[in-house]
Amino acid sequence: MPMPLAVLVSGGGSNLQSILDKIDAGLVDAEVRVVLSNKAEAYGLERARRKNIPAIALPHMAFPSRQAFDAEMTRLINEHGVTAETGAVALAGFMRMLTPEFLRAFPQRVVNVHPALLPSFPGTHGAADAASYGVRLAGCSVHFVDEIMDHGPVIIQAAVPALPGEGGETLAARILKLEHCIYPQAIAWLAQGRLTVQDRRVLAAGTAPAYCGDDALPCLASPGLEPGFRPV
Ligand code: GRF
Repeated sequence: MPMPLAVLVSGGGSNLQSILDKIDAGLVDAEVRVVLSNKAEAYGLERARRKNIPAIALPHMAFPSRQAFDAEMTRLINEHGVTAETGAVALAGFMRMLTPEFLRAFPQRVVNVHPALLPSFPGTHGAADAASYGVRLAGCSVHFVDEIMDHGPVIIQAAVPALPGEGGETLAARILKLEHCIYPQAIAWLAQGRLTVQDRRVLAAGTAPAYCGDDALPCLASPGLEPGFRPV
């Protein structure tokens, strides 16, 4: 059975789209059962509706507490067949911290993509912060989610050169292309049961770091991306 997946979005949902595209291509053995957003206007919801996937807006302001909001999300996610035993929850530009109660409902089953090489530049402006800092290597990370923002065990990272004088937006756009590769790859491994967490270390079955780009988008991914997940 494909791994039941819930995706949480707050915005455009291009990462959601990359997951849906790789599922359609037969590269990720998962099924997106529900897309939830704390923002009714999030375009990610529209992307789900177009594929006849249940898309639910849950404005967080309508809830008396963070716990109440997360409890309702948990209920809806479970109701759509996504459980800790067989399913997973993917944050794709979801701009809310999750409560310990939510994370306890899906232990080691919640993943996130972040536009920086963690632990550098956590927070909401990872790529822009890296550009302002003047780093010469930037990138993105997929990690398990824990109670601290952008902190849980790292599953995969990919690095790209950052150019002097380059603005945060240009760098963020280049990084986003790589997010669209590493996030579906990480979810594919999760669905295959190939990820084991020991302390902070994630053992992803057997791939070595690999150069995966070309002149247009030079990049290094670790673990390496499998065929089908590399930038095109
Ligand atoms: C991505 O850069 C992701 O890393 C960050 O938020 C952005 C979401 O983009 N967490 P999208 O909504 O998937 O297009």
